[in-house]
Amino acid sequence: MAKYIDKDELSRMSEYIEKLRARCDVFEAEYGRRPRALCETHGCQQNENDTERIRGMLRDAGYEFCTDANEADLVVFNTCAVRENAEDKVFGRIGILKHIKERRPHMMIVLCGCMVQQEHITERIKKVHSHIDLIFGTHALYRMPELLYKAYQSRKTVVDIENSPGAIAEDIPIMRDAAHKAWVSVMYGCNNFCAYCIVPYVRGRERSRTPERILDEVRALAADGVSEISLLGQNVNSYGKDLDEQIDFAELLRRVNEIDGVERIRFMTSHPKDFSDRLIDAMAECEKVCPQLHLPAQAGSNKVLADMNRRYTREQYLEKLNKAKSKIPNLALSTDIIVGFPTEAQEDFEQTVTLLQEAEFDSIFSFIYSRREGTPAAKLESVLSPEQIHANFDRMLKVQNEISRRKNEAYVGRICRILVDGESKTDKTMMTGRTDTAKIVNFPGDKALTGKYIDVKITKAQTWSLYGEYLRKE
Ligand code: 5AD
Ligand code: SF4
Repeated sequence: MAKYIDKDELSRMSEYIEKLRARCDVFEAEYGRRPRALCETHGCQQNENDTERIRGMLRDAGYEFCTDANEADLVVFNTCAVRENAEDKVFGRIGILKHIKERRPHMMIVLCGCMVQQEHITERIKKVHSHIDLIFGTHALYRMPELLYKAYQSRKTVVDIENSPGAIAEDIPIMRDAAHKAWVSVMYGCNNFCAYCIVPYVRGRERSRTPERILDEVRALAADGVSEISLLGQNVNSYGKDLDEQIDFAELLRRVNEIDGVERIRFMTSHPKDFSDRLIDAMAECEKVCPQLHLPAQAGSNKVLADMNRRYTREQYLEKLNKAKSKIPNLALSTDIIVGFPTEAQEDFEQTVTLLQEAEFDSIFSFIYSRREGTPAAKLESVLSPEQIHANFDRMLKVQNEISRRKNEAYVGRICRILVDGESKTDKTMMTGRTDTAKIVNFPGDKALTGKYIDVKITKAQTWSLYGEYLRKE
């Protein structure tokens, strides 16, 4: 059973939140306004969820929030380490902040999350970027109030990237992004050690929250009017393996399904090797669990899958996918694909293309392999040249876009129930929402519909989204 951070330690953090609040009061007396914090998230939903906690702690400490670094008194970057380009982006942002800090010397800059959990990165930042005030890793998130308070008192960069097997901190304040949907972490960490992946090194070992805590959180959210719950974990199929109680993810889904006020349940991510019949049955039988499955395949060639340490074959993957398709009507499928894993030869890549054609995913998240220091694959030389890898990547996208568009076109004419998310970010004249299959639907409508379930008639399909007409109830 995972270790929980004890109550005394958490109340010590509450005291630091009060100390920070006193600092904010002094700031207000001097500047005539509350200090403003900018929180930026890089990476996955787990990071988004962590940033919601960072914002919760800062809100309780008396900060206001802004979106422009030129106006910020505190900047927090919650970073990602999964691919090199995510790290490059943060280094770019750090460079820009250096210039802003020259004009605003009181500005406090904080880096946290997966990227800085890696010692070689933190060493580089300390050496080259002395304008960073505080660095803390994924295990120290709950200690942010104490660390921030200390950073205000120190002239040197404060660093806390202590590695730990990982404990769970409950009841950290949280400020959620949306009022109608929420992420709920069911477990943290990963034990799979896929050959290319940094996650197990920066997020620690798998540890599950107890069902009571998860269900209490979902009940409280539902009581607050949150109707869509996304259960989060790097590998939700391992849920419960480390608990004393006999429970697996399928059973957890069934229990969440019983909570009044919850209308939709989603989850991610499932590892194909542990994706079980029990889970397929739970998805098929629980009416609130959305017909949507994200099952990362990563590659279509058995040789590459073995080299990646994925522990399933292409045939096993497709068999599970087909079983899910046959038991869950109207199931929408998505996957992750890596192109250019070092041992991937041209004939292996062709197997990825045929996998996409056979599986017919609604959408894919595709990535060019990125070498991650400290992972087993980092020692391997690439079989293909960067030019060949890029050409393969482009060709794969073409194949997939055609499939995605075809699958979306099948929606035209249908009436779909969507949960309205709000104004479309790309087209301000449109509202946007999602079907139970997670398809984005844009439609002309009123902002007041945000957070409501409405029926729309689908009128047009594009590769990544649908357009519809709001069907008003008479
Ligand atoms: N290079 C490219 N993509 C990666 N992913 C994880 N590690 C790497 C890497 N080193 C992808 C996988 C995973 C997704 C979250 O990111 O496809 O499922
Ligand atoms: Fe990374 Fe594999 Fe764990 Fe996913 S299952 S987080 S790809 S090691």
